[in-house]
Amino acid sequence: MTPRTIAIDGPAGAGKSTIGALVAERLGYLFLDTGAMYRAVALAALRRGVDADDGDRLAALAREVRIAIGPPTVRDGRAYTVLLDGDDVTWAIRDAGVDAVVSQVARIPAVRDAMVAQQRALAERGRVVMVGRDIGTVVLPGAERKIYLTASAAERAKRREEELRARGDVRGRSDLLDEILRRDRIDSERAVAPLRAADDAVLVRTDGLSVGQALERVLAIVTRS
Ligand code: DC
Repeated sequence: MTPRTIAIDGPAGAGKSTIGALVAERLGYLFLDTGAMYRAVALAALRRGVDADDGDRLAALAREVRIAIGPPTVRDGRAYTVLLDGDDVTWAIRDAGVDAVVSQVARIPAVRDAMVAQQRALAERGRVVMVGRDIGTVVLPGAERKIYLTASAAERAKRREEELRARGDVRGRSDLLDEILRRDRIDSERAVAPLRAADDAVLVRTDGLSVGQALERVLAIVTRS
């Protein structure tokens, strides 16, 4: 059976984007990394000097900006291209400044409402792999397949460090671990759509698994009848 919609949730650095993009490629599905949308709003806020605690202005900004996520337009290792009001921000949304404020921005209910509406509209066409924190619980509770991808914080920090270093962004492992733990805490404790596994999600722990092994495990779950 091929599911219409596949939801992959989990904490920062669990491998959701890597695995989600590969699953989508294998199945010929559309891939949407919803974290990139919250990152784009956070970047817009930084660029316009909007404070990460100013809920009203963030909500207005989230409704106003145009975020478009599509196939890669440059062959520089990106899995997709992110446009913010027409400007290519694919790498800018990965900066440390965005890491520092994105969880605060994503906590604002009206920001989430604006993003969720776009995410659901995209999923209506079907054949989509959507990754995030609340896809199986809130955005697409009816998704036919739900995966909760996770790994220990130490493993996630190690992967982040390697991934950033490959792009020439050298950051210390312990700083990255602190950042991951801080984001885990804000993402899990927020009042609206906190990070948690849906009751009907299949849990996949990726500690010690290569990308290929994790991919095979997720594909087996996604395609089983
Ligand atoms: O997956 P990521 O690290 O790129 O996500 C960035 C932030 O966006 C993350 O700290 C929490 C937020 N987020 C969210 O609240 N809901 C989602 N569906 C996806 C991401």
